[in-house]
Amino acid sequence: MIRINENYLKLQASYLFSEIGKRANAFQEAHPEREIIRLGIGDVTRPLPEACIKAFHRAVDEMAEIKSFRGYGPEQGYDFLREKIAQVDFQSRGADISADEIFVSDGAKCDTGNIQEILATDITIAIPDPVYPVYLATNVMAGRTGSFNSGRYEGIVYLEGTLENGFIPELPAEKVDLIYLCFPNNPTGATITKSQLQTWVDYARENKALILYDAAYDAFIQDDSLPRSIYEIEGAREVAIEFRSFSKKAGFTGTRCAFTVVPKTCVAYTGGGESVAVHDLWYRRHTTKFNGVSYPVQRAAEAVYSDDGMAQSKVLIDYYMKNAALIRSEIAGLGYECIGGENSPYIWVDGRMDSWAFFDMLLEKAGVVCTPGAGFGRCGEGYIRISAFNHYENVEKAMQRIKQALVLE
Ligand code: MLT
Repeated sequence: MIRINENYLKLQASYLFSEIGKRANAFQEAHPEREIIRLGIGDVTRPLPEACIKAFHRAVDEMAEIKSFRGYGPEQGYDFLREKIAQVDFQSRGADISADEIFVSDGAKCDTGNIQEILATDITIAIPDPVYPVYLATNVMAGRTGSFNSGRYEGIVYLEGTLENGFIPELPAEKVDLIYLCFPNNPTGATITKSQLQTWVDYARENKALILYDAAYDAFIQDDSLPRSIYEIEGAREVAIEFRSFSKKAGFTGTRCAFTVVPKTCVAYTGGGESVAVHDLWYRRHTTKFNGVSYPVQRAAEAVYSDDGMAQSKVLIDYYMKNAALIRSEIAGLGYECIGGENSPYIWVDGRMDSWAFFDMLLEKAGVVCTPGAGFGRCGEGYIRISAFNHYENVEKAMQRIKQALVLE
């Protein structure tokens, strides 16, 4: 008899963003006359930078010629892209990362979800609450948790984010082996300083733990004193893996390109205490299960680092950050406490009511889709996340409608 992976039965209903899409679509079907504005999932709305489009076209033309045609590329990405990433994203900021420590992939979601495969199943994991749901769900699938009780999976050490700690969790009281961190944070938009991040790196070094650092939103950092990479922190090369993405940085959500940095000095241990380079394990996993991002996409990503590409990507970021500033000031003007939106495209709002009820209310009364905070964990209950990814005119309209809805509430 064929049997299932019963860990899947522990998962909570559907994936958060699928559930939101389902509810928004059902509402649209029931009210075809209503125009819905989607500020739920963080999906970009602006076209790719022109430099990327040109590079994309050129690469497609190369594929049409026998002399320049390319078949399989290196699984971990072409050197032309990895070298640019290493120089611009890391070395230029004093972070000692080389091209051969970079693995190009089709998404930070896949990489943050897949990375746990190279680690033991009986480790202790610390996961923030609220959190991007992929980290937790993929560990549930892998059997690293018990069942779900009162909003929490047994066996996980939850790092609580609250208004009081500014959604920067404290170090765990107990010893943990694996720590997920995400800054600028999804969903709260909170940011971490270098000295705060140093305490996490020090903790990992003292406890032989590993940090999985999701920096998919680094491009939104406006305050230059904040770290964009964990490798700006002393000692991080030994204890951290970092995830980055072109999705939000340059509008690649539909194009798909991201990368993961696994320094060659980063180690984990066998049961007998022998240290092993996690780079070698991830290399083995990546080359076995992945055949590389398509050549034209990698050329388009490379163009992000050209002078034109850098300037054009900044225009995109500035555009969304203008949306974020508008959302934040309008929501705060209505008397709601919120964070984020200053170095992040997400605004995290204390709705002072059940977050799914707030979601339904905004959908029904304002025709605006947000993300209920409870979908990110128990500490997210009472909050909603508003995404700045949409056209400015839509954000303006959404804010007008929200104002009316909340005033009538
Ligand atoms: C989000 O809205 O949190 C993100 O767009 C989801 C993702 O990047 O997978």
